[in-house]
This record gives sequence, C-alpha cells and structure tokens, in this order.
Amino acid sequence: MPLRYLTDFDTKNIEKEICDVIIVGSGVAGLYSAINLDRSKKILIISKESMDENNSYLAQGGIAAAVGEGDLPEYHFEDTIKAGAGECDNEAVTVLVEEAPRDVEVLCNIGTNFDRNIDGTLTTTREGGHRRFRIIHALGDATGREVVDSLLRECRTRENITIVENCFAVDIITADEHFTGLLVKHENKYKYLISKAIILASGGIGQVYKNTTNATVITGDGIAMAYRAGAELTDMEFVQFHPTAMYSENVDENKFLISEAVRGEGGILRNTDGRRFMPEYHEMAEVAPRDIVARAIFAEMKKTNSDFVYLDVTHKEPDQIKKRFPNIYKHCFDRGIDMTKQFIPVCPVQHYFMGGIKTDLWGRTNIQGIYACGEAANTGVHGANRLASNSLLEGLVFGRRCSEQINSTIDSMKIIGTDIVNRRQLTTIVDAEAVNISIKSLMNEYAGIERNEKDMSMALCRINEYMEQLENSSLESTKEMETMNIANIASLILKAAIRRKESVGSHYRID
Ligand code: SIN
Repeated sequence: MPLRYLTDFDTKNIEKEICDVIIVGSGVAGLYSAINLDRSKKILIISKESMDENNSYLAQGGIAAAVGEGDLPEYHFEDTIKAGAGECDNEAVTVLVEEAPRDVEVLCNIGTNFDRNIDGTLTTTREGGHRRFRIIHALGDATGREVVDSLLRECRTRENITIVENCFAVDIITADEHFTGLLVKHENKYKYLISKAIILASGGIGQVYKNTTNATVITGDGIAMAYRAGAELTDMEFVQFHPTAMYSENVDENKFLISEAVRGEGGILRNTDGRRFMPEYHEMAEVAPRDIVARAIFAEMKKTNSDFVYLDVTHKEPDQIKKRFPNIYKHCFDRGIDMTKQFIPVCPVQHYFMGGIKTDLWGRTNIQGIYACGEAANTGVHGANRLASNSLLEGLVFGRRCSEQINSTIDSMKIIGTDIVNRRQLTTIVDAEAVNISIKSLMNEYAGIERNEKDMSMALCRINEYMEQLENSSLESTKEMETMNIANIASLILKAAIRRKESVGSHYRID
C-alpha cells in the first residue's frame, strides 16, 4: 500500500472552502459533467494549469457517434467490442453507443461548431477500427479545442460554476472510508475544499512514458490519489499506443499526433524502403484497430532498422488536405515537411490509458462520494484497446451520467469535512527531476508495445526503489508529488502487465 497522504498538513490550520461538488479536471468530461449538474448546486472545477492544458483540448480526430446516414448504434457497438479484444463490458458499451447521438445534439445546441456538409448535415470521417464513417469533427482537425471552448463558454454563463486554474489536487481526504474533501495546492498555499461529492475527471497517465502525445500536465494525479484513498483500479496493463505521432529527433519534446483520420481518408503507411505494408498485417490495412497498426509499424521499424515509417498522402488533392487537416499541415510545414508533396515520418507513442478508477455505469467508485469519468475512469467501454474517437464520447456520456446520479442523491448527502492531520516530518529531498526522467525511460523501454516478464520485473525493481526513496522524503514541491504519482502508476502498470501472461489488445507479451 502506498502512502495514504503525500504531504504533511493539518486541516485545522489551512483555509477551507465549502461547495456541493468538486470537479477535478477541465477537459471534456469535467466541463460536461459540470453543465449537467443541478444549477442550484455550488460547483467548483479545478484545473491543474490553464484551461487549455489538457488532453481533450489536443484531440484532433473527433467524436464517434452513429449519426451518419445508414449507421446505427448496433454497428458502433460491434466495432467498439471488436477493437476492445473481448475485454469490453457489453452493458457499458451499449450505454455509450446508444446515448452518443443525444449528447452530440446537446453539444450542437450549446453552439459547438462541428464541420458540416453543404446540406447542413454533420460531416463524418473514418478512423482505425470503424467500418463506417461516423466520426464528427470540428475546425478540420481541432475537434477537442472547439468542444472544450464551447463547453467553457457554457460553464461561464452559469453562476453556480466557479473555475479555479493553476490548482494542484494533492489528495482526497476521507474519514471512515467516506469522502470528506480535497487537499489542494493553490498559489503556493494548501487549501481544504469540502464538498458532498467529488468527480475525478483528471485524465490519464501519458507522462508516465517518455514518448507520449499527452499534455505535460497528465501525470496520473487523479488516479494515484484515488488509489491512495482506497479506490479500486482496474485494467492497469492496458496502455494504448497511437500508431502515428510525428517522428522528431528531439527526444524531449512531446510527440505531435497525426490523426488517424488522415489514414481514414486515404493516407498510406510505407516503410523506409517506400513499400506499403499494412495489407500484409490486416484486412482493414491502414484503418485496422490501433493496436494492430501500432504493432505492424513497430515490426517494420525493426525490420528496416529505423526509428520511423512514413505516412503518405501525396496522392491526395493538396487543397483538400490543407482544408481538412489545417493544423497538421501547418505543424508539418513548420518542421520542413509539406505533407502534400513529402512523406511524413511517424512512429507509435503512448496516447491513451484504458485502465483507471473502476466505476459503475453511473460513475460511482467503491468509495461513497467519489465519482470518476473520462480517461481517469474505467467504465469498461474500451476493453483492452479503445476504438478511435470513443474517448471524447466516453467523457460526454459518462460525465453526464455521473451528474445525473449526483443530482438524484445530493439532497440526502451530507457535508462531512472532518479535520485531518498528517505528519511524517521528513526532511530528505529527492532529485525528483532525475527520478522522473528515469521512470519515463524505463516505461518507454520495458512497458511499451512489446513486453516480457524479465524486463518488466527489472523495471519494476528499479521503480520500487525510487518509490521507497520518494516515500521517505518530504514531498513538498508539486514536481516531487507528481513524481510520486508517476512512480506509483508505473509500478501498478508493471505489476498488472507482469500478472497478465497472455497477449490481449494493447497488451502484447512476446514471451
Ligand atoms: C486521432 O485523431 O487519431 C486520435 C483520436 C483518438 O484518440 O481517438
């Protein structure tokens, strides 16, 4: 069991604030759950940094929903289950696909400006694992930005919602296994936020890996603090690698995603010899489920002794590419690649976390008062491999469901706000930056696309040593606390991956 609380505090001596519901995270799941909570309740959304620093904001592809002509939730169900490699919860997937069109309609009603055809219908695209065109998008390839901006506008019209930026959630406080409040660090001071319920919409774990498409704030804090509070976590071995991040020689920069929609609309993968290879790996070729494409690319990289393969759209109409993928075009162009004329070097990197805080269909965890949604949660919809563009969708559907559940019970819930003291009084300081870098490299190397027990056990040993050092240090700075969270998540991923001997979905054992 890890530390119960990361840092020393005495809630009697720190500022307190009382509200009805705290939401941790300002991505799609957090904002959408906020607008679905009863308007008479006082809601506090806390964002780790600024409102645009989250994975939702970076999402390019779109939102999957059976809204196109000839599509049905049943078909969306089949594709989701197939991608999930037999590990999805059928009931959760049914909820997801059946309720998807209604949440898309709500977004349209609050002004989300999805891309539309000349006749006014929503434009749909296709991505890996989808057998139909069912992904709606906005601003070409900046769907997340448009959805977050429109939700934010809506939140700002609500007097009952307060948003606090640059506020780090340190620990969930519980008393007698019941949620009582949240310890946060804001403007360098600790504060005790007290409420009836908390929704953890704090995102995934991308920064546990050296190469990731995720925002730099995504250090698994919500999942780690839920674990410390006794919440059940599941499927920790299921980490998704996106097949096509732009390859860059700068190993330190976050990896820029080249949306799967580029392949969905005709992009071809070629190895460094220029040969198309995907048809040899799967009948759906470039639009096979993500885990299959990522492994195929990895295999080709090994065969050709290269750090990347190529994504080729040079056969497509240049104006259409520039209009459909304006941000991707610009990003590549700024780095010296005109994608309408040149191949884009790409490689798989960490992108999404299917595991997380176990919830039921209403976002409830095993601890009363604690709810979770979005990437932090494990509702069971993704199984061992998430279907493309089901993530923003899951944030919407289950974010709303969390709120519906809270709305129906909040009047009988009590504010508890028990005072707690935590004293470890340690003074040792760890070089958190160095530990952080080392853990990310170990995870990249040994808990990636291909895994084997020997290497994972060695990595786990090293990470356990780091955890011991961290647990015996003062953990005062945000960096130190994030590093403890990263170490904790890394060890849980490795333990689960060592335990699961067979290959399934994103978890691929070569031994
Ligand atoms: C993409 O645009 O390829 C990413 C969409 C997703 O993660 O589902």
